[in-house]
Amino acid sequence: MTTIPTTTLNNGVEMPVLGYGVFQTPLQQTATHVREALEVGYRLIDTAQAYGNEEGVGQGVRDSGVAREDVFITSKIWVSNMSYERARASIDESLRLLGTDYLDLMLLHQAWGDYPGAWRALEEAYADGRLRAIGVSNFYLERVIDVALLAEVPPAVNQIETHPFRQQDEAHRVLSDLGIAHEAWAPFAEGQNNIFANPVLTEIGARHGKTAGQVILRALMDKDVIVIPKTVRRERMEENLDVFDFELTDADKAAFAALDDPSFPRIFDHYDPTTVRWLLGELVKKQQLGGAALY
Ligand SMILES: NC(=O)c1ccc[n+]([C@@H]2O[C@H](COP(=O)([O-])OP(=O)(O)OC[C@H]3O[C@@H](n4cnc5c(N)ncnc54)[C@H](OP(=O)(O)O)[C@@H]3O)[C@@H](O)[C@H]2O)c1
Repeated sequence: MTTIPTTTLNNGVEMPVLGYGVFQTPLQQTATHVREALEVGYRLIDTAQAYGNEEGVGQGVRDSGVAREDVFITSKIWVSNMSYERARASIDESLRLLGTDYLDLMLLHQAWGDYPGAWRALEEAYADGRLRAIGVSNFYLERVIDVALLAEVPPAVNQIETHPFRQQDEAHRVLSDLGIAHEAWAPFAEGQNNIFANPVLTEIGARHGKTAGQVILRALMDKDVIVIPKTVRRERMEENLDVFDFELTDADKAAFAALDDPSFPRIFDHYDPTTVRWLLGELVKKQQLGGAALY
């Protein structure tokens, strides 16, 4: 079975450089897919409170028979829990749903609401051992610097949209300077832009006997980016893990770098007022907070 390399986070915790994401995986199917992913060899599972499938992740881990300490589980605090009190209660709820007494990594999912308060709740749970590492997601640079420099415990990870068309080199440099690991969400750009048939990627892949998807994962890991591709198909789980037996040439890496496209629309645009108003107003405040104030 493939042994997945790890990277050492800024607090000494080892994190696999390749994992399995379950965004948009329905709760009823999550346990099966997570069990399969662990059977195939994955040892990092990425879920979130907002995905509504933490319970399935916990069940899948137990069903797999893989020891809890051999699986790295990440979850994320949703915006509706973004205050000290709410985040604190929601950590207990995530642990209950996952059926575990600790998480390997808990992230703040978005930089909205009272995220400094929520960060203090993470720091507390980190101090008492319920969270082995804490970090953020979708924190643009000014916000991640804010937490990194002003909080007591700096984030270990920032999980941000990263794929061939948005490689995030500037963010990577800033995160590296701060000692924060860069984790990619949507490494395949969620299949947009016909990515699996991209001629540059398929041409590189053909020379190495690999698919475009495998080239993407290899290239991102070569840039010290942690990847968590999602698939519900077992053969693709195997394909996405079979990326440790080939090396990209410098020319391959240069061709990959040239795919970066500043004009490529963000999959989720945190700077677009319409998107933000929809999410914070309609979704979070009306649906999840019932119109109540978060702070
Ligand atoms: N922090 C955040 O805000 C955030 C946002 C988005 C995602 N994430 C995390 O990042 C993970 C990955 O991102 P994502 O799920 O949005 O998108 P993704 O991994 O970029 O792409 C997933 C899509 O690619 C397809 N696919 C996977 N492997 C393939 C292969 N080898 N060949 C062809 N198609 C393939 C999947 O289809 P099938 O399933 O049908 O195979 C699915 O449609 C998520 O699951 C989640 O854990 C985090």
